Amino acid sequence: MQPPGSPPQKIALPNIHNVIAVASGKGGVGKSTVAANLALALARTITPQPSSGKEGIGRVGLLDADIYGPSVPIMMGVRDVVDQRTTPFPLERYGLKLMSMGFLVPPVQAVIWRGPMVHRALVQFLTDINWGPLDYLVIDLPPGTGDAQLTLTQTAPLSGAIIVTTPQDVALIDARKGLEMFRQVRVPVLGIVENMSYFQGEDGTRVHLFGHGGGQKLAAEAGVPFLGEIPIDPRVSECGDQGEPIVHRYPESGVAKAYQALAAMVIEQLRRTDQGPELPEVQL
Ligand SMILES: Nc1ncnc2c1ncn2[C@@H]1O[C@H](COP(=O)(O)OP(=O)(O)O)[C@@H](O)[C@H]1O
Ligand SMILES: [Mg+2]
Repeated sequence: MQPPGSPPQKIALPNIHNVIAVASGKGGVGKSTVAANLALALARTITPQPSSGKEGIGRVGLLDADIYGPSVPIMMGVRDVVDQRTTPFPLERYGLKLMSMGFLVPPVQAVIWRGPMVHRALVQFLTDINWGPLDYLVIDLPPGTGDAQLTLTQTAPLSGAIIVTTPQDVALIDARKGLEMFRQVRVPVLGIVENMSYFQGEDGTRVHLFGHGGGQKLAAEAGVPFLGEIPIDPRVSECGDQGEPIVHRYPESGVAKAYQALAAMVIEQLRRTDQGPELPEVQL
């Protein structure tokens, strides 16, 4: 038994080289979309032959830790709850290994779960599921910075965290809270990614619908890397709804290229944090 008030024990995952948390201060900024497409982009950096269908096969996992709002099932085209007796987990889609509470129970059922049950389920997802050796496990954290998120970031052996924001001021305020949470639990922030940054017209002109430069400014302020901008593209949500993320469906699109650049930045930051010295303290 642990004494009350002590932080939860960290799980060891020796078979997984890098565990990356994707977080946001609030919902709706595209955190799940970023987690899924980043996972696919990372897989493509491992085996980069386009459209071989075997990009980085089995070397990247995506764990949906957003128990109350799982979106991995829909984004990855797993429409129905799967039969646990006959289905081995993790599931595999597009070369990724996947786990989500949404595979096990319809979302309405999980809503009544309390914190400790949610936590136990996630610990099981990390420890009881045979992920096999992985280069990267991307975890889609629940939105926000409450107790559940804090416990999770203390339990999972995170190599680093990515914070997703949009250019709007309100989203940036919430992103600051995310930075503070990871500082408290001493998880290195790999950087900030700004989603829905701009719309690019066919002639190449960029329209910044929600302002410009917010994510970059926040990163500079906090002394963490700015990992890049993901444009707005209606195909992102179409692909999400149809169960095939844009990086897989349209690997030549501007959005997919932005994700490949993001993956390269993330790999670079992981390499740096691995080598130490420690990232500078986040200044807020
Ligand atoms: N770059 C983008 N361009 C267009 N739509 C996007 C983009 N990123 C996310 N979306 C859409 O925004 C909505 C919210 O995204 P989601 O990933 O579910 O957010 P969160 O996990 O932060 O709540 C989804 O419909 C998604 O398809
Ligand atoms: Mg989500």
